[in-house]
Amino acid sequence: MIIAPDAAGIARAVDILRTGGLVAFPTETVYGLGADAGNPDAVRRLFAAKGRPADHPVIVHLATAADALAWGVRAPEAARRLAAAFWPGPLTLIVPRASSVHDVVTGGQDTVGLRVPSHPVAQALLRGFGGGIAAPSANRFGRISPTTASHVADDLGERVDLILDGGACPVGIESTIVACIDGPPMLLRPGGVPREDLERVLGAPLGTPTPTAPRASGTLASHYAPRTPARLVEAESLNAAVRDSGRDAAVLALSVPAPTGFCGTWIAAPRDAEAYARTLYANLRLLDQRGATVILVEAPPPEAAWHAVRDRLARAAHAQTPDAVDDID
Ligand code: TXA
Ligand code: MG
Repeated sequence: MIIAPDAAGIARAVDILRTGGLVAFPTETVYGLGADAGNPDAVRRLFAAKGRPADHPVIVHLATAADALAWGVRAPEAARRLAAAFWPGPLTLIVPRASSVHDVVTGGQDTVGLRVPSHPVAQALLRGFGGGIAAPSANRFGRISPTTASHVADDLGERVDLILDGGACPVGIESTIVACIDGPPMLLRPGGVPREDLERVLGAPLGTPTPTAPRASGTLASHYAPRTPARLVEAESLNAAVRDSGRDAAVLALSVPAPTGFCGTWIAAPRDAEAYARTLYANLRLLDQRGATVILVEAPPPEAAWHAVRDRLARAAHAQTPDAVDDID
């Protein structure tokens, strides 16, 4: 059920969390599917609702940086600096976990993912609840993250006990994930906080994941995928690709205008990277529903501002068949 996030709505959501239920709530990035992080049965229900394998770790959300860092141990200096600069906000920090954190939350790893969201509804829920809320994105495993309450309802239906409707998420793509364990902090997933902003605060470049880096399944190649096969196409090749697709394509264009006579679906996306990110998942869902044989996406420019968007588009375009997304988060 979708309800307004007024005082009564928040109180109801808090009750549901306290009794082991699942509440979907808006954050500034995407909607999360929340469960009491201190209740292993509730977290298991959350995995079942998403259809997510049990060994995938889930991010714990807290109201303040002090609350969040208490879920880690030996929070490295870099983590404390990033927390001070970017929390509340679209950043997730992976740190060594405190021994009290349940295995079901960490997927059995010795680290925990922590985030302090800035969205007022997420903040109200976290303050009302008073503890950690484990929350992956509120979509079925491997699919596009939801950025509105109705996306959540479409994906999860009766599997979620309550959905708090906070409107469309203002960032629109997931948080940036940085692992601060030993050695230099590593960027595991680009997202709402640009890499350059993190590096400015750290005064040093972020590392890139090594084979022994903590696993962030959201970084698997075929993630965030629509059901319709998607292809990334450079601007100069878009018209030719549309012609080849028999003109029934669903197109997410950026700079190229629709050719005359085109009778598929053509979305002219915003030219600004932040505005593009805000509407990206809603646009992909819309194009996915058109029954087209292919979704053609005009590749954004290779500039830093587009880094996180390009990352998500590459993943959306990677999964070419429904089966290809079965084994990912
Ligand atoms: O913006 C976001 O981060 C949203 C909102 C709801 O906060 N959440 C989100 O959660 O995107 P999820 O579960 O869909 O993606 C989080 C990613 C997963 O790929 C998970 O494997 C990784 O973070 N992750 C979580 N804890 C981790 C840990 N301890 N070590 C490595 N990766 C971790
Ligand atoms: Mg997700």
